[in-house]
Amino acid sequence: MIERINPRALEAAVARMPEPDAQARAHSLKLVSLIRDEIAAAGGRIPFDRYMELALYAPGLGYYTAGARKFGGAGDFVTAPELSPLFARCLARQCRQVLEDLGGGVILEVGAGSGVLAADLLLELERLGCLPERYLILDLSPDLQQRQRQTLAQRAGHLVDRVDWLSGFPERPFSGVVIANELLDAMPVHRFRYADPLLQEQYVAWNGEQFELLWDAPASADFARQLAAPLARLQGVDGFESEINLRAGPWLAELAGSLERGAALLIDYGHSGAEYYHPARNRGTLMCHYRHRAHDDPLVYPGLQDITAHVDFSAIAEAALASGFHVAGYTTQAFFLMGSGLDQLVAESDPNDTEAHLDLVQGVKRLTLPTEMGERFKVLGLTRGWDGSLTGFAMRDMRDRL
Ligand SMILES: C[S@@+](CC[C@H](N)C(=O)[O-])C[C@H]1O[C@@H](n2cnc3c(N)ncnc32)[C@H](O)[C@@H]1O
Repeated sequence: MIERINPRALEAAVARMPEPDAQARAHSLKLVSLIRDEIAAAGGRIPFDRYMELALYAPGLGYYTAGARKFGGAGDFVTAPELSPLFARCLARQCRQVLEDLGGGVILEVGAGSGVLAADLLLELERLGCLPERYLILDLSPDLQQRQRQTLAQRAGHLVDRVDWLSGFPERPFSGVVIANELLDAMPVHRFRYADPLLQEQYVAWNGEQFELLWDAPASADFARQLAAPLARLQGVDGFESEINLRAGPWLAELAGSLERGAALLIDYGHSGAEYYHPARNRGTLMCHYRHRAHDDPLVYPGLQDITAHVDFSAIAEAALASGFHVAGYTTQAFFLMGSGLDQLVAESDPNDTEAHLDLVQGVKRLTLPTEMGERFKVLGLTRGWDGSLTGFAMRDMRDRL
């Protein structure tokens, strides 16, 4: 997914967006009607995070909970496991280190998308002779759970018996590895505007014809306290708009209650708090994706487009510490993959098998080049009840930047 681009380019991107067909429009209108009813019941407006939650996850209608194709060339965006199996193969090597050191355990993938990562990871762990006891998948979307079952049946049918789909974190504490790729960026965020000392929150209202965004006093008296870290970085700043993910903290606390021994790898595009809430980044990081067009208008085609925000990894690390995790590493995706055996996988590829070799080289480029996913994506490693040192961070660890 792309970095912020200039506002004119974003407007042009909306203008150039392909028109949805009649069925997709009808679907979007149903979601519009549901959100409108909630706005009316709430007295005329809802906080932005609730709009985003409904747009992405309203049962049967939200972007992730309804049937449209999202991932890959025919969808709206491409993620690392969809781009190249090298991503899963490197992650498998990091999982092997933890599982071998723990003497076994499970893998829990949260937010498994199309299921490609689960399938490729299991296949590679099988090749490495290190299959997990179980592969658990936790995903909010029943529609995507269905897709994951299909993908696993097609790509790794003989391993499907090892996979369980969960409706919440495991009730019995477990040992193993937790993986979440592009999960945190898909959590609904609150949007705020700050002109020191005035703090406002963004709401979504219905003006009789369409949704509109408006700013007003925060809905909760606690909002300023929750924003203490960003606001401390923004003293004296005028007209700064951004987002904050207030759901990641409770999510990490729940995860900590479930993971007894092992590691969690959180992979996403984002920055340290100082970069995220830098005065120059004064329009925030919210981005929308529709058929490979990126723009910043979350009100376009509700239910048909993805809405995401970058991740503040300093806040995630702090919340993880507060929940009893050890912050074991933070680095770029490129360095993490290199620390997890990417060079060895490239060395093993046979250049005489031209097509496969070119595919692999293309995958390496897209996963690691700074202009592609290599630097915008970061990996945060957390451990709990296990004090091994994760190999993926051996090449470069940037925890001092958090
Ligand atoms: C951007 S997609 C990433 C999918 C996949 N990991 C990949 O890299 O292709 C986000 C995924 O997270 C799921 N999701 C979002 N919030 C979740 C939550 N709180 N718990 C579990 N799954 C969640 C969505 O349904 C979707 O499958």
